[in-house]
Formats: sequence, C-alpha cells, structure tokens
Amino acid sequence: MNVLVLNGPNLGKLGTREPEVYGHQTLAEIEAGLEPVANEIDATLEWFQSNHEGALIDRLEARADWADGALLNGGALTHYSYALADAVRAFAKPVVEVHMSDVQTRERWRRESVLADVCVDVVSGLGADSYRVALLALARRLDGGH
Ligand code: DQA
Repeated sequence: MNVLVLNGPNLGKLGTREPEVYGHQTLAEIEAGLEPVANEIDATLEWFQSNHEGALIDRLEARADWADGALLNGGALTHYSYALADAVRAFAKPVVEVHMSDVQTRERWRRESVLADVCVDVVSGLGADSYRVALLALARRLDGGH
C-alpha cells in the first residue's frame, strides 16, 4: 500500500509553532514515529510539506498513479481551498483529512472544512497521533472497503 502524506502551510514549523496547540514534535519526528506503524501494515509512506497550494496540488497529480490513498493535513487551506478540494476529487483515491488540533473547538473559521466532502474520513484533535489513526483508518478502507 502506497500512501502519500501531504502537509500544507506552516506545518513545516511544527516543533516550535504554537507548541501549546501542536505539541513539541517536528514534522520529521512525526514522520519517523509513523514508520513502525507503516511497516507493521506494509505501507510505504511518501511525505511532502509545502506552504504553497499549487505545490500540494502538483504532488497529488504527480503521485496519483503511484498512491493507493493519501493523508492530508491541509493546514489553513482546509478551510477555504476549493482548488485543493478539486485536486483531491481528481486524485480519485481515498484521502483522510488530518488535523492535530481539535478544529471544532477552536476559532469559528476553523470549523468549516471544504475538504471534508471529498475525504473519506476526518481525524482531528489527537496531536501527532492523528496521523497514526488516519493511517490505520485509510488502511482499513483500502483493505475492507468500510
Ligand atoms: C491544522 C488546523 C488548521 O486549522 C491550521 O490552520 C493548521 C493545522 C491542524 O493540524 O490542527 O495549520 O490543520
């Protein structure tokens, strides 16, 4: 199972960015922490982070043939990027929306996701564990079609 793990704007700053909200782990540390889980379920992960909407869309397009599915933490793009939503739709493989923080209990503008409609699941509020749970949810979908 090949899984693209896309991270949007400001997620490259994890570790120092609002640690009271996002914790102290860097994205590289989260990536390393997910490796044993990926190995256990026989998944190959390709991580990509960009602050640029177009770069995320380009990566979804470029890896659509390779990937069986994706995890997507769109950062703030989650809340307004119809372009990213269209790209997820065109990707045509299951995508799980990921958030480290609980977006439903923060500012009002974070409560809307324009990606939710095109994603198969949303995992939010578990910190770095959101990625782990999202990966397991994706694997379950790909295995059993639940
Ligand atoms: C986030 C939540 C978004 O609202 C925010 O803009 C982010 C991170 C999260 O992982 O909790 O950049 O996606």
